[in-house]
Amino acid sequence: MARIIAGVASSHVPAIGAAIDNHRTEEPYWKRVFSGFEKSKEWMAKAKPDVCIAVYNDHASAFSVEFVPTFALGCAAEFPPADEGWGPRPVPVVKGHPELAAHIAQSVILDEFDLTVVNKMEVDHGLTVPLNLLFGSPKEWPCPVIPLAVNVVLYPPPTGHRCFMLGRAIRKAVESYPEDLRVVVFGTGGMSHQISGPRAGLINKKFDTAFLDNLTKDPAKLARMPHVEYMREAGAEGIEMVMWLVMRGALDDKVDEVYRFYTVPASNTAVGHIILANRPRAARHRAGAHKAGKRPTARKTKTPTKRAAARAKAVVIRGR
Ligand SMILES: [Fe+2]
Repeated sequence: MARIIAGVASSHVPAIGAAIDNHRTEEPYWKRVFSGFEKSKEWMAKAKPDVCIAVYNDHASAFSVEFVPTFALGCAAEFPPADEGWGPRPVPVVKGHPELAAHIAQSVILDEFDLTVVNKMEVDHGLTVPLNLLFGSPKEWPCPVIPLAVNVVLYPPPTGHRCFMLGRAIRKAVESYPEDLRVVVFGTGGMSHQISGPRAGLINKKFDTAFLDNLTKDPAKLARMPHVEYMREAGAEGIEMVMWLVMRGALDDKVDEVYRFYTVPASNTAVGHIILANRPRAARHRAGAHKAGKRPTARKTKTPTKRAAARAKAVVIRGR
Protein backbone atom coordinates (compact mmCIF):
# COMPACT_ATOMS: atom_id res chain seq x y z
CA MET A 1 0.00 0.00 0.00
CA ALA A 2 1.26 3.49 -0.81
CA ARG A 3 1.56 5.98 2.02
CA ILE A 4 2.37 9.62 2.51
CA ILE A 5 5.44 9.98 4.68
CA ALA A 6 5.85 13.75 4.80
CA GLY A 7 4.83 17.13 3.49
CA VAL A 8 7.08 19.97 2.40
CA ALA A 9 6.02 23.57 1.95
CA SER A 10 8.18 26.07 0.16
CA SER A 11 7.98 29.42 -1.56
CA HIS A 12 8.50 29.21 -5.31
CA VAL A 13 9.91 32.67 -6.04
CA PRO A 14 10.91 32.84 -9.74
CA ALA A 15 14.03 34.87 -8.93
CA ILE A 16 15.35 31.87 -6.97
CA GLY A 17 15.21 29.85 -10.19
CA ALA A 18 16.98 32.68 -12.06
CA ALA A 19 19.71 32.79 -9.37
CA ILE A 20 20.29 29.04 -9.84
CA ASP A 21 20.22 29.20 -13.62
CA ASN A 22 22.63 32.17 -13.71
CA HIS A 23 25.05 30.65 -11.16
CA ARG A 24 24.51 33.37 -8.56
CA THR A 25 23.77 31.13 -5.57
CA GLU A 26 27.08 32.00 -3.86
CA GLU A 27 26.44 35.74 -3.89
CA PRO A 28 25.74 36.94 -0.31
CA TYR A 29 22.14 37.95 -1.08
CA TRP A 30 21.29 34.52 -2.47
CA LYS A 31 23.52 32.49 -0.18
CA ARG A 32 21.30 33.64 2.72
CA VAL A 33 18.34 32.05 0.94
CA PHE A 34 19.96 28.86 -0.31
CA SER A 35 21.79 28.09 2.94
CA GLY A 36 18.37 27.69 4.57
CA PHE A 37 17.66 24.70 2.32
CA GLU A 38 20.90 22.77 2.92
CA LYS A 39 19.37 20.76 5.79
CA SER A 40 16.25 20.21 3.70
CA LYS A 41 18.25 18.67 0.88
CA GLU A 42 19.96 16.38 3.38
CA TRP A 43 16.58 15.38 4.79
CA MET A 44 15.19 14.72 1.32
CA ALA A 45 18.23 12.65 0.32
CA LYS A 46 17.60 10.43 3.34
CA ALA A 47 13.80 10.35 2.90
CA LYS A 48 14.20 9.09 -0.70
CA PRO A 49 10.51 9.25 -1.67
CA ASP A 50 9.34 7.00 -4.49
CA VAL A 51 6.96 9.66 -5.78
CA CYS A 52 6.22 13.31 -5.03
CA ILE A 53 2.93 15.13 -5.52
CA ALA A 54 3.64 18.82 -6.10
CA VAL A 55 0.81 21.26 -5.41
CA TYR A 56 1.65 24.49 -7.19
CA ASN A 57 0.12 27.15 -9.35
CA ASP A 58 0.65 27.82 -12.99
CA HIS A 59 1.52 31.46 -13.76
CA ALA A 60 -0.21 31.71 -17.15
CA SER A 61 2.43 29.35 -18.61
CA ALA A 62 0.41 26.20 -19.32
CA PHE A 63 -3.02 27.78 -18.90
CA SER A 64 -3.71 31.24 -20.29
CA VAL A 65 -6.39 33.38 -18.67
CA GLU A 66 -8.75 31.97 -21.31
CA PHE A 67 -8.82 28.69 -19.44
CA VAL A 68 -7.91 28.32 -15.77
CA PRO A 69 -8.94 25.09 -14.06
CA THR A 70 -9.44 25.28 -10.29
CA PHE A 71 -7.63 21.99 -9.68
CA ALA A 72 -5.70 20.28 -12.50
CA LEU A 73 -3.92 16.97 -12.02
CA GLY A 74 -1.03 16.07 -14.30
CA CYS A 75 -1.56 12.49 -15.49
CA ALA A 76 1.04 12.53 -18.28
CA ALA A 77 4.30 10.58 -18.39
CA GLU A 78 6.35 13.76 -18.50
CA PHE A 79 6.09 17.51 -18.09
CA PRO A 80 8.69 19.69 -19.86
CA PRO A 81 9.77 23.02 -18.34
CA ALA A 82 7.73 25.94 -19.69
CA ASP A 83 9.13 28.93 -21.55
CA GLU A 84 8.31 31.82 -19.22
CA GLY A 85 9.74 34.50 -21.47
CA TRP A 86 13.48 33.71 -21.30
CA GLY A 87 13.32 30.21 -22.76
CA PRO A 88 12.60 27.07 -20.73
CA ARG A 89 14.61 26.79 -17.49
CA PRO A 90 17.63 24.48 -17.86
CA VAL A 91 16.16 21.89 -15.51
CA PRO A 92 15.31 18.24 -16.17
CA VAL A 93 11.98 17.24 -17.65
CA VAL A 94 9.65 16.26 -14.81
CA LYS A 95 8.71 12.60 -15.12
CA GLY A 96 5.21 11.85 -13.93
CA HIS A 97 3.62 8.74 -12.49
CA PRO A 98 0.61 8.18 -14.77
CA GLU A 99 -0.64 5.09 -12.90
CA LEU A 100 -0.76 6.72 -9.48
CA ALA A 101 -2.05 9.98 -10.98
CA ALA A 102 -4.91 8.14 -12.71
CA HIS A 103 -5.71 6.34 -9.47
CA ILE A 104 -5.78 9.66 -7.56
CA ALA A 105 -7.97 11.23 -10.25
CA GLN A 106 -10.46 8.37 -10.04
CA SER A 107 -10.56 8.26 -6.25
CA VAL A 108 -10.76 12.01 -5.75
CA ILE A 109 -13.34 12.62 -8.49
CA LEU A 110 -15.53 9.81 -7.15
CA ASP A 111 -15.17 11.57 -3.78
CA GLU A 112 -16.78 14.57 -5.51
CA PHE A 113 -13.70 16.74 -6.06
CA ASP A 114 -14.01 17.70 -9.70
CA LEU A 115 -10.41 17.73 -10.84
CA THR A 116 -9.38 18.54 -14.39
CA VAL A 117 -7.34 15.68 -15.81
CA VAL A 118 -4.38 17.03 -17.80
CA ASN A 119 -2.57 14.73 -20.21
CA LYS A 120 -0.21 17.32 -21.68
CA MET A 121 1.27 20.19 -19.73
CA GLU A 122 4.42 22.24 -19.32
CA VAL A 123 5.41 23.24 -15.80
CA ASP A 124 6.77 26.61 -14.73
CA HIS A 125 8.83 27.97 -11.82
CA GLY A 126 5.92 27.30 -9.44
CA LEU A 127 6.90 23.64 -9.59
CA THR A 128 10.52 23.57 -10.69
CA VAL A 129 11.90 26.04 -8.11
CA PRO A 130 10.76 23.97 -5.08
CA LEU A 131 12.21 20.86 -6.76
CA ASN A 132 15.57 22.66 -7.01
CA LEU A 133 15.38 23.76 -3.38
CA LEU A 134 14.76 20.22 -2.12
CA PHE A 135 16.67 18.15 -4.69
CA GLY A 136 19.39 20.56 -5.85
CA SER A 137 20.25 20.63 -9.55
CA PRO A 138 20.63 17.00 -10.65
CA LYS A 139 20.73 15.80 -14.26
CA GLU A 140 17.44 13.97 -13.67
CA TRP A 141 14.96 14.53 -10.86
CA PRO A 142 15.40 11.59 -8.48
CA CYS A 143 11.76 10.45 -8.50
CA PRO A 144 8.54 10.88 -10.45
CA VAL A 145 6.53 13.99 -9.64
CA ILE A 146 2.76 14.36 -10.09
CA PRO A 147 1.85 18.02 -10.60
CA LEU A 148 -1.38 19.35 -9.10
CA ALA A 149 -2.04 22.87 -10.34
CA VAL A 150 -4.35 25.07 -8.25
CA ASN A 151 -5.87 28.30 -9.48
CA VAL A 152 -4.70 31.18 -7.32
CA VAL A 153 -4.27 33.66 -10.16
CA LEU A 154 -7.84 34.31 -11.32
CA TYR A 155 -10.66 35.17 -8.94
CA PRO A 156 -12.16 33.14 -7.36
CA PRO A 157 -9.53 30.74 -6.08
CA PRO A 158 -10.67 27.77 -3.99
CA THR A 159 -11.05 28.28 -0.25
CA GLY A 160 -8.45 27.08 2.20
CA HIS A 161 -11.02 24.63 3.53
CA ARG A 162 -11.62 23.19 0.06
CA CYS A 163 -7.86 22.80 -0.39
CA PHE A 164 -7.50 21.13 3.00
CA MET A 165 -10.32 18.67 2.23
CA LEU A 166 -8.80 17.93 -1.18
CA GLY A 167 -5.61 17.02 0.64
CA ARG A 168 -7.55 14.57 2.77
CA ALA A 169 -9.11 13.03 -0.35
CA ILE A 170 -5.64 12.70 -1.88
CA ARG A 171 -4.39 10.93 1.25
CA LYS A 172 -7.30 8.48 1.00
CA ALA A 173 -6.49 7.93 -2.67
CA VAL A 174 -2.80 7.33 -2.04
CA GLU A 175 -3.51 4.92 0.81
CA SER A 176 -5.75 2.84 -1.43
CA TYR A 177 -3.07 2.46 -4.12
CA PRO A 178 -1.81 -1.13 -3.96
CA GLU A 179 1.87 -0.59 -4.71
CA ASP A 180 4.17 0.03 -1.75
CA LEU A 181 5.21 3.62 -2.49
CA ARG A 182 6.51 6.28 -0.11
CA VAL A 183 5.06 9.62 -1.13
CA VAL A 184 6.02 13.19 -0.22
CA VAL A 185 3.56 16.01 -0.90
CA PHE A 186 4.79 19.52 -1.74
CA GLY A 187 2.75 22.66 -1.06
CA THR A 188 4.26 25.69 -2.79
CA GLY A 189 3.91 29.46 -3.04
CA GLY A 190 3.85 32.32 -0.54
CA MET A 191 4.65 33.48 1.92
CA SER A 192 3.49 37.09 2.35
CA HIS A 193 4.03 39.15 -0.77
CA GLN A 194 2.37 41.60 -3.06
CA ILE A 195 3.95 42.29 -6.42
CA SER A 196 1.97 45.31 -7.62
CA GLY A 197 -0.12 48.29 -6.49
CA PRO A 198 0.38 50.67 -3.57
CA ARG A 199 1.18 47.81 -1.17
CA ALA A 200 3.85 46.22 -3.43
CA GLY A 201 6.62 44.73 -1.33
CA LEU A 202 4.34 43.98 1.62
CA ILE A 203 5.83 41.49 4.07
CA ASN A 204 4.10 40.38 7.28
CA LYS A 205 6.46 38.29 9.36
CA LYS A 206 4.02 38.03 12.28
CA PHE A 207 1.33 36.56 10.03
CA ASP A 208 3.78 34.21 8.31
CA THR A 209 5.13 32.92 11.63
CA ALA A 210 1.64 32.27 12.96
CA PHE A 211 0.77 30.50 9.70
CA LEU A 212 3.78 28.20 10.05
CA ASP A 213 2.94 27.53 13.72
CA ASN A 214 -0.66 26.67 12.91
CA LEU A 215 0.27 24.61 9.88
CA THR A 216 1.92 22.22 12.30
CA LYS A 217 -0.40 22.45 15.29
CA ASP A 218 -3.81 23.72 14.21
CA PRO A 219 -4.35 23.43 10.45
CA ALA A 220 -8.14 23.35 10.94
CA LYS A 221 -7.88 26.96 12.15
CA LEU A 222 -6.03 27.93 8.96
CA ALA A 223 -8.60 26.10 6.87
CA ARG A 224 -11.29 28.46 8.22
CA MET A 225 -9.38 31.60 7.19
CA PRO A 226 -11.27 33.56 4.50
CA HIS A 227 -9.65 34.88 1.34
CA VAL A 228 -9.89 38.46 2.53
CA GLU A 229 -7.65 37.71 5.51
CA TYR A 230 -4.92 36.34 3.24
CA MET A 231 -5.22 39.43 1.05
CA ARG A 232 -5.24 41.89 3.96
CA GLU A 233 -2.50 40.27 6.02
CA ALA A 234 -0.27 38.56 3.46
CA GLY A 235 -0.79 40.67 0.33
CA ALA A 236 -2.55 39.87 -2.93
CA GLU A 237 -0.19 37.02 -3.80
CA GLY A 238 -0.24 35.66 -0.25
CA ILE A 239 -3.33 33.74 -1.33
CA GLU A 240 -0.88 31.19 -2.77
CA MET A 241 -0.64 29.80 0.76
CA VAL A 242 -3.99 28.02 0.38
CA MET A 243 -1.96 25.49 -1.60
CA TRP A 244 0.00 24.63 1.54
CA LEU A 245 -3.30 23.45 2.99
CA VAL A 246 -3.64 20.77 0.31
CA MET A 247 -0.31 19.40 1.51
CA ARG A 248 -1.31 19.68 5.17
CA GLY A 249 -4.66 17.98 4.55
CA ALA A 250 -2.82 15.05 3.02
CA LEU A 251 -0.91 14.49 6.27
CA ASP A 252 -2.08 13.02 9.55
CA ASP A 253 -3.71 15.26 12.15
CA LYS A 254 -0.64 15.08 14.35
CA VAL A 255 2.70 15.57 12.65
CA ASP A 256 6.27 16.23 13.65
CA GLU A 257 7.84 19.47 12.53
CA VAL A 258 11.19 18.39 11.15
CA TYR A 259 12.53 21.74 9.98
CA ARG A 260 11.54 25.30 9.24
CA PHE A 261 13.23 28.24 7.56
CA TYR A 262 12.14 31.83 6.99
CA THR A 263 14.00 34.72 5.43
CA VAL A 264 13.16 38.11 3.95
CA PRO A 265 13.44 39.04 1.18
CA ALA A 266 13.97 37.04 -1.98
CA SER A 267 12.97 39.36 -4.77
CA ASN A 268 10.13 41.16 -2.95
CA THR A 269 8.83 38.04 -1.23
CA ALA A 270 9.09 36.44 2.20
CA VAL A 271 10.56 32.97 1.74
CA GLY A 272 9.04 30.35 4.02
CA HIS A 273 9.71 26.66 4.21
CA ILE A 274 8.67 23.84 6.49
CA ILE A 275 9.00 20.04 6.55
CA LEU A 276 6.32 18.07 8.39
CA ALA A 277 6.58 14.31 8.86
CA ASN A 278 3.87 11.79 9.55
CA ARG A 279 4.67 9.69 12.57
CA PRO A 280 5.67 6.09 11.87
CA ARG A 281 2.73 3.73 11.53
CA ALA A 282 3.47 1.66 14.67
CA ALA A 283 3.81 4.76 16.86
CA ARG A 284 0.55 6.19 15.47
CA HIS A 285 -1.22 2.88 16.10
CA ARG A 286 -0.03 2.80 19.70
CA ALA A 287 -1.05 6.42 20.32
CA GLY A 288 -4.47 5.83 18.73
CA ALA A 289 -5.10 2.68 20.76
CA HIS A 290 -4.08 4.47 23.95
CA LYS A 291 -6.44 7.36 23.21
CA ALA A 292 -9.29 4.93 22.55
CA GLY A 293 -8.74 3.30 25.93
CA LYS A 294 -7.46 0.12 24.34
CA ARG A 295 -4.39 -1.66 25.49
CA PRO A 296 -1.57 -0.48 23.26
CA THR A 297 0.21 -3.02 21.13
CA ALA A 298 3.27 -4.25 22.96
CA ARG A 299 6.52 -2.73 21.82
CA LYS A 300 8.92 -5.06 20.14
CA THR A 301 11.39 -6.08 22.80
CA LYS A 302 15.02 -6.14 21.90
CA THR A 303 17.00 -9.31 22.15
CA PRO A 304 18.58 -9.06 25.63
CA THR A 305 22.29 -8.49 25.76
CA LYS A 306 24.45 -11.05 27.59
CA ARG A 307 24.79 -8.59 30.50
CA ALA A 308 21.02 -8.02 30.74
CA ALA A 309 20.36 -11.77 30.52
CA ALA A 310 22.88 -12.38 33.33
CA ARG A 311 21.24 -9.63 35.43
CA ALA A 312 17.82 -11.18 34.90
CA LYS A 313 19.18 -14.58 35.85
CA ALA A 314 20.77 -13.07 38.98
CA VAL A 315 17.40 -11.59 40.03
CA VAL A 316 15.77 -14.98 39.64
CA ILE A 317 18.48 -16.62 41.67
CA ARG A 318 18.20 -14.02 44.46
CA GLY A 319 14.44 -14.53 44.54
CA ARG A 320 14.70 -18.18 45.33
FE1 LIG B 1 3.61 32.05 -7.59
